[in-house]
Formats: sequence, structure tokens, C-alpha cells
Amino acid sequence: MINKVNSSDLKELFKDYKLDYIISNNEYVQYYAYKIDNKYIAFLCFMNISEEVEIIDAFVLEKYRRNNIMTSLFNYLFKNEKYTKIFLEVSEENIGAINLYNKLGFKVISVRKGYYNGIDAYVMEKK
Ligand SMILES: CC(C)(COP(=O)(O)OP(=O)(O)OC[C@H]1O[C@@H](n2cnc3c(N)ncnc32)[C@H](O)[C@@H]1OP(=O)(O)O)[C@@H](O)C(=O)NCCC(=O)NCCS
Repeated sequence: MINKVNSSDLKELFKDYKLDYIISNNEYVQYYAYKIDNKYIAFLCFMNISEEVEIIDAFVLEKYRRNNIMTSLFNYLFKNEKYTKIFLEVSEENIGAINLYNKLGFKVISVRKGYYNGIDAYVMEKK
């Protein structure tokens, strides 16, 4: 159900995500994706550079949310990536995502003031 995929495998899912989603060609950018009935319905995008993982994006199609799908994708990453630290950044208004990250053991380590058009962003870390 969970696989490492290429961005080209997720073209359809990206359409549901953000119309302006730009597929990064950076060689470090990687994707884990969750498939149901032969269709990708969620992805976790990240880089792992020198054993420091940076989460770039996390998305689950709306109708599949609150079924532990993103939790499974993170657990898959914890198991399969070699890392010393994992970082991510989240808007202070994204309460659902913050709850998820807290549950997964991430802690706020700094605040980027006004980062999203005046809205603060939290930088969170898990060791
Ligand atoms: C944030 C997101 C990835 C969560 O995915 P998900 O598969 O629904 O998350 P899970 O089911 O694994 O959630 C696990 C726990 O996180 C918390 N959580 C997740 N979504 C939540 C919400 N909308 N409100 C409150 N708590 C939430 C809950 O504690 C949940 O456990 P519970 O359902 O038993 O209460 C998904 O809502 C999404 O794609 N949102 C739009 C994109 C986005 O905001 N991405 C994050 C960018 S930083």
C-alpha cells in the first residue's frame, strides 16, 4: 500500500492538491505514497541529506482523512529512512497538522514570525 514513487506517478494526485504545485526536480526530493484501489490518495514529500530529513509536503485526499493514512506514511518514513533529525514547518493555523505532528513526537523548536502572509509558522523537530 505504501511505496517510494517518482513525482511523475503522482500527477493526478497533485491536481487535487494545488493547481500551482510545482514538481521539484531536485535530486534529493523523494516521495512516499499511499495507494488504494490502484489510485494514489496521499503522499509525503521529503529530502534526506546527510541523515537530516526535511519534510516538504504532506497531503491526503480529503475523503480519506482521519484514517491514520498520514500517520502510516510517517511511520513508514521513520522505519525506512536513516536519520538523526527530522524537521518540518507548519502554519500556526493548521491545527489538524499540528495535532498530527505532536502525536508523532515532533516538538516546536522555533517560530518564523509572519512567514505565511503575516501568519506565523512553527518549525518542528523530531530526533
Ligand atoms: C494534515 C493531513 C496530512 C493529515 O492527514 P490524515 O491522514 O488525515 O491524518 P491522520 O488520520 O494520520 O491523523 C492522525 C491524528 O492527527 C490529528 N489530526 C489529523 N487531522 C486533524 C484535524 N483535521 N483536526 C484535528 N486533529 C487532526 C488527530 O489527532 C488524528 O488522530 P484521530 O483521527 O485519531 O483523532 C491532512 O489533513 C491533509 O492532507 N491536509 C491538507 C494538507 C496539509 O495541511 N498538509 C500539511 C502541511 S504542513
